[in-house]
Amino acid sequence: MSIQWFPGHMTKARRQIQEKLKLIDVAIELLDARLPMSSRNPMINDILLNKPRLIVMNKSDLADPDMNARWLKSFRGEGHAAIAVDASTGSNVSQIPAEARKLLQEKIQRQIAKGMKPRPVRALIVGIPNVGKSTLINKLAGRTVAATGDRPGVTKGQQWIRVGTEMELLDTPGILWPKFEDQEVGYRLAATGAIREEILNVEDIAFYALKYLSSHYWERLAERYGLEQRPADTDNPDEILSIMEDIGRKRGCLMGGGRIDLEKASGVILRELRAGKMGRITLEEPYSFMVE
Ligand code: G4P
Repeated sequence: MSIQWFPGHMTKARRQIQEKLKLIDVAIELLDARLPMSSRNPMINDILLNKPRLIVMNKSDLADPDMNARWLKSFRGEGHAAIAVDASTGSNVSQIPAEARKLLQEKIQRQIAKGMKPRPVRALIVGIPNVGKSTLINKLAGRTVAATGDRPGVTKGQQWIRVGTEMELLDTPGILWPKFEDQEVGYRLAATGAIREEILNVEDIAFYALKYLSSHYWERLAERYGLEQRPADTDNPDEILSIMEDIGRKRGCLMGGGRIDLEKASGVILRELRAGKMGRITLEEPYSFMVE
């Protein structure tokens, strides 16, 4: 999937989402639990304005469980409703309608007090490409939903999907763009497969991932590839390069003359990281991150 980061595309995407916002009560902001900061759109607050929002950290099955808990705490500490799910198996997905409804509790209570019967909460899923929007829509719908196509400024033709008795979901998600200005964000998105590798150099992405894994998940890395020498300084590029070479050697990524094929080794590392072969890994911590 191509990433659209040109200003024109952003304006269009924003307009499309804002058209849909008129129809809904709650926005479900879908993030990748492995990189909750980088997988979120930097202008999300401007885009959603005051629409009640539920943050859903998807792919939590691939992310570090301790970090999932820390991120949830951090989002909640900033006043956001947040849950972690795994849309592919459906774990925790059934909590979404109730969580969305909670955000509208006061309004619903007022309606009940006036003798009105509250209608189901109307929701829209928004998120960057590859975060699992379609998978989640299908899981909530309990079937495969064919996208109706999305034209700028046109909200006709969209369908509501009934999710139990409590929620109705728009069948097409709002597609946001990730922020690319920060190179580290690009590397993290590429390391998890959220953006195509061709945009960045595959060896640079693997190098970035190895550096992070060496400092945060050394035991897992060492176990996976039988590494013995823990780097004394993970900021030293030579040490990271030598880990990459070691992995390449062990996996038979060799070129003529016994030289290591670093591109091939990088491919192995990234494939295995994305497939969860090194266990559940989160690539960013919630330390100084503010939702605003
Ligand atoms: P999008 O609409 O936001 O672009 O994302 P989409 O649902 O297409 O999901 C992107 C990829 O992420 C898919 O894998 C999907 O199976 C996977 N995925 C979605 N949610 C989860 C989750 O909670 N956990 C895990 N582990 N994976 C998830 P794919 O390789 O592109 O396709 P496929 O292998 O499913 O065919």
